[in-house]
Amino acid sequence: MLKDPIRIAVLCSGGGTNLQALIDAKKAGVIKDGKLSLVISNKAGARALSRAAEAGIDAMCIPSAGTTTEAFEKKLCDVLDEYKIELIVLAGFLKVLSADFVRRYPDRIINVHPSLIPSFCGDGFYGLKVHEAALNYGVKVTGATVHFVNEITDGGKIILQKSVAVRKDETPESLQAHVMKNAEWIILPRATQLVCRMIKSEKNGKKIDISDIQ
Ligand code: GRF
Repeated sequence: MLKDPIRIAVLCSGGGTNLQALIDAKKAGVIKDGKLSLVISNKAGARALSRAAEAGIDAMCIPSAGTTTEAFEKKLCDVLDEYKIELIVLAGFLKVLSADFVRRYPDRIINVHPSLIPSFCGDGFYGLKVHEAALNYGVKVTGATVHFVNEITDGGKIILQKSVAVRKDETPESLQAHVMKNAEWIILPRATQLVCRMIKSEKNGKKIDISDIQ
């Protein structure tokens, strides 16, 4: 029985509040089968990088601006290999990864999206745009989804979802804050633990479906 925790890399682009939720969940024992080994930001100066440093996690910036996707992803793969990363968590990572990159890590990349997929997702739906679209449509319930990442934007298998009621007089900003606090920060750590368990089980020779361990 392998005991080593699954080595996780968290990819971010900005504030890193979802990263913070993962750090807090690790401390609280929610992520029992994984270790936050590395944080990577594609934006220099991202708050996510200092959050990682404060938590004693190795952190680095690999800039995606001013270079090709190919060159960016080559650097990313080299670092992920160097750290022997087994699970990649996209936590507010705003660069879309190429199909080639995604195919290298089947069922080993997860993402948090701030809506109930399949609503308000896919190309162009990121950040506040998701919440603007939800409010313009007039939905009464929204939420967040954690899913596996495949070649289709926000199209991989769903791991966890959590709904949030849309309040009266909500703005895109207030709805974003509400969805982060009441859905994203809760389901991202839980889904991370589930996938770590799944990977651990596979490493021990028993392949399991993520839906069977929830
Ligand atoms: C979150 O709403 C996330 O779902 C989205 O971008 C926001 C980033 O938040 N993709 P943070 O960087 O984790 O604070």
